[in-house]
Amino acid sequence: MVQEHQVTQADLIYPLFAVPGQQVAREVSSMPGVYQLSVDKIVEEAREVYDLGIPAIILFGIPTDKDGEATGAWHDCGIVQTATTAVKQAVPDLLVIVDTCLCEYTAHGHCGYLELGDLSGRVLNDPTLELLKKTALSQVRAGADVIAPSGMMDGFVQAIRSGLDEQGFTDTPILSYAAKYASAYYGPFRDAAESAPQFGDRRTYQMDPANGTEALKEIALDMAEGADMLMVKPALAYMDIIWRVKQATQLPVAAYNVSGEYAMVKAAALNGWIDEQRVVMETMTGFKRAGADLILTYHAKDVARWLA
Ligand code: PBG
Ligand code: ZN
Repeated sequence: MVQEHQVTQADLIYPLFAVPGQQVAREVSSMPGVYQLSVDKIVEEAREVYDLGIPAIILFGIPTDKDGEATGAWHDCGIVQTATTAVKQAVPDLLVIVDTCLCEYTAHGHCGYLELGDLSGRVLNDPTLELLKKTALSQVRAGADVIAPSGMMDGFVQAIRSGLDEQGFTDTPILSYAAKYASAYYGPFRDAAESAPQFGDRRTYQMDPANGTEALKEIALDMAEGADMLMVKPALAYMDIIWRVKQATQLPVAAYNVSGEYAMVKAAALNGWIDEQRVVMETMTGFKRAGADLILTYHAKDVARWLA
């Protein structure tokens, strides 16, 4: 009766990784229980997720080919577009959120466009916006319900919003990765998404972990540009940011419980060193207490089962 916060299935968003092929289910070595799945398997997984009471998935894609223009990101037959259409057809009531970024599709693994031959890792912001616009449009045409741009480019919310509006997609919300830090906790994700930068790092566009107030500047920009929901990422080492963002906005706030956070819990649990269920539920409750309305987590299916 006096409990202040509850975790429910409705808070959860489950990340999925789509790969080309059929009947493919490849476990990610650094993320036990997480798989790269071909589209047929993604559809099966989507059904299971929906039946567990989880309202949404977020899709990432690993393309057959990577190039300088991130063609696989914005092509109408891209892997995420294909997976989106298949899931919406099979499980129409499951919300499909799509990650809108270039890093899985560029040969160099950066989230933006680089001058050919430039090895500095300094992305060209504005040419990237054009590619992100194209990517979001093709994703929405494929049936995506929510666009989630994750590259931390300046002006990306505004660019995507106007790109969608011009084509009549005025009702598609944008969940912005608004406060995203340059974090070592993304390591296992880069195995899963095959998106590690081939040179340099992401510190020219992601935030310095030492900065808190800067997160408020980032969310203010995204709110002014038309973001509908804001994300803080990673979550565990950034609980204070979740709290500050929640205090500073009236938009829903999402926390991304990232791959490295998942991997640490899984490793300890597999060694019998911690009680996995209690640790995960305590962590989820902590996110809610910190102010998160939504939680993106690889534990989502387990959490939903435990709650049931
Ligand atoms: C890329 C992206 C990353 C994650 C989601 N989208 C990582 C990165 O910046 O390399 C990380 C998710 C996770 O670690 O679970 N734009
Ligand atoms: Zn990216």
